[in-house]
Amino acid sequence: MTDLTNQIILVTGAASGIGAATVAACREAGASVAGADLSEVSGADFAAILDVSDETAVNAVVAAVLDKFGRIDGLVNCAGISRPGPATTMPLESWHQALDVNLTGTMLVARAVIPAMVENGRGSVVNVSSIYGLTGGPGNTPYNVSKAGVAQLTRCLAADYGAAGIRVNAVCPGYIETPMTEMLGGQIEKNFINMHLLRRAGRADEVARAIRFLLSDDASFVTGANLPVDGGFVSSHVIPMSQ
Ligand code: NAI
Repeated sequence: MTDLTNQIILVTGAASGIGAATVAACREAGASVAGADLSEVSGADFAAILDVSDETAVNAVVAAVLDKFGRIDGLVNCAGISRPGPATTMPLESWHQALDVNLTGTMLVARAVIPAMVENGRGSVVNVSSIYGLTGGPGNTPYNVSKAGVAQLTRCLAADYGAAGIRVNAVCPGYIETPMTEMLGGQIEKNFINMHLLRRAGRADEVARAIRFLLSDDASFVTGANLPVDGGFVSSHVIPMSQ
């Protein structure tokens, strides 16, 4: 199993879904884990209430984690919100909220943590983008644009801090069963699942294990990558062969 013994990992969005599964996966691999979220986090070694779009709060929580553990070896930017709508009808507020939390929030936490990693000469950042950071998709403009921003931010951070020994990657999950997606159902959900080559939804722990790999030394020569964890969604188009 991937080894994170003695590693200090900070996970945002840690109260639910993929973030909560990442906390559990990292602790299982021997890490000490700090979890931050708008909601209360359970199951972590240190927990903080945090709005990742609030720069002052981000800096305070990162300072508190550094104060408690002395360093941060790994950062997982998992906090995120869904904001649907095509551009002509979406409320402008949805656009701002998606970009503020998903993109600016990811950037704010990364830039609060990376200086401490640089001081240590090593670190691994894993952002959570989406299949819709890599491809277009209908009716979801604020979310999709924010996740494409996360994919590009991942490459930019990797470029800027690689020479300092910091690796920065992202996972791009397909349809994962979590509270965020539980409103999907019926034929729409079936159609969406059928666009995944494995013809099933993913589980939060399957994404968490990919995140854990990217955090670990098993991925020591991997940086700037946006890794699909998507049952094959982005690698092929499924053509219905029967009526
Ligand atoms: P979730 O809704 O179960 O978890 C999201 C967590 O983020 C919640 O605990 C929420 O309180 C927290 N959060 C929201 N806004 C926050 C803020 N401003 N500051 C701090 N925490 C905040 O959803 P899920 O599915 O676990 O999502 C985790 C990440 O995975 C998100 O970034 C999401 O966009 C991404 N993702 C999810 C997919 C899915 O199918 N479930 C697919 C692709 C990406």
